[in-house]
Amino acid sequence: MCGIVGVTGNPNAVEILLNGLEQLEYRGYDSAGIYVNDQKGDDYLVKEKGRIADLRAEVSADVHGSTGIGHTRWATHGVPSKENAHPHVSNDKRFYLVHNGVIGNFTELKETYLQDVTLVSETDTEVIVQLVAKFAREGLSTKEAFKKVLGLVDESSSYAFLLLDREDPDTLYVAKNKSPLLIGVGDGFNVVCSDALAMLKETHDFIELVDGEIVILKPTSITIEDPAGQVVDRKPFHVDTDPAQAQKGAYPFYMLKEIDEQPGVMRNLIKEYIAEDGSIKIDTDLLKAMADSDRIYIVAAGTSYHAGLVGKELFEKLIQVPTEVHVASEFAYNPPLLSAKPFFIFLSQSGETADSRQVLTQVNQAGYPSLTITNVMNSTLSREATYTLLLYAGPEIAVASTKAYTGQIALEAILAKALGVYKQIATIKDFDVAAELTKAANGMQELVDEKGKIEKIAADMLKDTRNAFYIGRTMDYAIVQEAALKLKEVSYIQTEGFASGELKHGTIALIQENTPVVAIITDKKTANHTRSNAQEVKARGANVLYIVSRDLATPTDQIVLPEITPLLSALVAIVPTQLLAYYASIQRGYDVDKPRNLAKSVTVE
Ligand code: F6R
Repeated sequence: MCGIVGVTGNPNAVEILLNGLEQLEYRGYDSAGIYVNDQKGDDYLVKEKGRIADLRAEVSADVHGSTGIGHTRWATHGVPSKENAHPHVSNDKRFYLVHNGVIGNFTELKETYLQDVTLVSETDTEVIVQLVAKFAREGLSTKEAFKKVLGLVDESSSYAFLLLDREDPDTLYVAKNKSPLLIGVGDGFNVVCSDALAMLKETHDFIELVDGEIVILKPTSITIEDPAGQVVDRKPFHVDTDPAQAQKGAYPFYMLKEIDEQPGVMRNLIKEYIAEDGSIKIDTDLLKAMADSDRIYIVAAGTSYHAGLVGKELFEKLIQVPTEVHVASEFAYNPPLLSAKPFFIFLSQSGETADSRQVLTQVNQAGYPSLTITNVMNSTLSREATYTLLLYAGPEIAVASTKAYTGQIALEAILAKALGVYKQIATIKDFDVAAELTKAANGMQELVDEKGKIEKIAADMLKDTRNAFYIGRTMDYAIVQEAALKLKEVSYIQTEGFASGELKHGTIALIQENTPVVAIITDKKTANHTRSNAQEVKARGANVLYIVSRDLATPTDQIVLPEITPLLSALVAIVPTQLLAYYASIQRGYDVDKPRNLAKSVTVE
C-alpha cells in the first residue's frame, strides 16, 4: 500500500525515482509524485493523479536533480487527487515528505499543534510535514524536529517516511514503524525503497531497518540510530534477483506471465527442498518445534488464507496434526481459545501484510514458535517469525496472486512430508512429494497450453454477466473460494465461492436464466453430490461449466484436469480458474494487473 523511493548523490535521480516507482506501482496507483533538487538551489515538485505513466508525462526535460524522493499512492485519507498526492510540502516550502502508512492520531495532532496552519490536502501525511516545519521554526534541528514528531505519533500508526530539507539538500531523513523500508547501498550514492525490486537496477545490496530506527542518509554515508539515539552497525544483505525477472518480457500482462510460470515454481521448490535421494532439506529445529506442538494455527489473508485452507487438509490428512486456519484481521481482535502448545504458520506472499504482522507480534509477545512461508527474503514477517521458508517463485508483480498460491500449497505439502518423516508416521512413505509436484508441474503445463479454449469459454460465459458462482465440496470448497476471489477481483463480476451443499439453503434463489455456475469436482467422495447440485442449478436456468479430474470426468465435462493425488488437486484445478479470471478481465476491458481500489502488499490494517 503505497510505494516510496528516495535517492541521494546520483545525477540520474529523476530516472532512478521514476523507474523505482514503476516497479512499485503494484503497491498503489491512485496518484504519484516526485521531488528532486540538484543541490545547487534548484528544486522541482511534480505530482499527478493516476498512474506513473501520467506522472512521467508531466516530468519535463527541465526537471533534474541528484537527490529526491518519490511516491505512488493507494489512498487512505483523502480522495485520489493531485492535492492529496505525495510528496507533501510544508507551507514554508522547506520540507518535503513521502509516507507509506497511516497516522492514527493525525486529527488530534492537527487540532493540538496546527490550529494556525492552513493545510492544503486532506491527508494525514501533510500534518506530519507541517509539524516538522513548525518545530524547526521553533529552533529545533531537522533531526530533532523529525524525532519530536515521531514521538507524537500514536501506537496505532504505521509509517515509512522519507523527509528532505531544502536547506540540507543532499540528506534524506528516514524512519519506519510497521511499514516496510530498505536502504540500498550504491557506489557513491544511496537509495531507499519499500521493496528491493524498485532499486535492483542501482544495487543488489540492501540494509533492513527495524521499527523505531531513524536513518540519516547521505551520498557516501548511512547512519542508523535506534530509538535511544545509539548508532547501529548493520551489514547489508545481498539480493540475487535478476531485474529481468521483474519484467513482463513478451507478455501483455504480468498476470498471464505469472500463471505460466507456475510449472517452473513447482520445479524450483523441488530443487530447493528435495534432495536426489528424496530426503527433505528443512531445518530439523523447525521440524522439532512443530513436532513438539499439539496444534498448527495457520494465519493469513486473502489468497494466502485460501492456500492455508488446503494446508489444513494436508497437515490433517497426511500426518494427523490438528490444524486451524484463521483470517489474520479477525484473529488479531478475536483470537480462538488456543491449545496448550500451539505452533503458528504465517502464509504471506509479500511478507508485509499488516493484518498478519499484527498477529505475529501478539504470538511473539506470548512466546509461541512460528514459521513464515513467504516469497520475499528478509521481509518483515520473515524477520520476525522464529523460522522462514521461502517460496522461490520469483517476483509476483500482478496484484492478483497466482503463482504464490500454488507455491504456498506445494511448500505446505513438502513441509507436511518432512514433518511426517520426522515424526515417523508410517503412512507418510506412501506420499512421494517430489513425484506429486512433478505431476503437478506437468499437469499445469498441459492446462496453460489450453489457453485458447479457456479464452473462448470466458467470452461465452463471463464477458457480459453481472454475477457468477463457483461451487464445490470438501477440498473443492477450498479451491472454489480462491477461484471466486480471482474472478471478482480482476473482472468485477460479483462472484461467490460456495459449498455446493449449501446452495439449497438460500443462495439458489439467486440463480436465473444464464447465471454462470462453475462446478469444481476433484474429490471422489463428493463428486456425485456436486454433480447433483450442478443439475439443480441447471434446471433453474444456470449455465454450468464443469472442471473435473480425469478419473471422475464424463464425456461432456468441458475442462478435464490432469491426474494428481486428490490432496493436491488445487494445484491443477486452480489454473483454468486463473485463466478464466484473466480473460474475463481483458474481455471486459480492464487493466488486469492493476484492478481498481486494490494494491499488492497490504501494509495498513
Ligand atoms: C488476491 C491477493 C490478496 C493477498 C492478500 C495477502 O489475489 O493477492 O488477497 O493474497 O492481500 O497478501 P500476502 O500473501 O502478501 O500476505
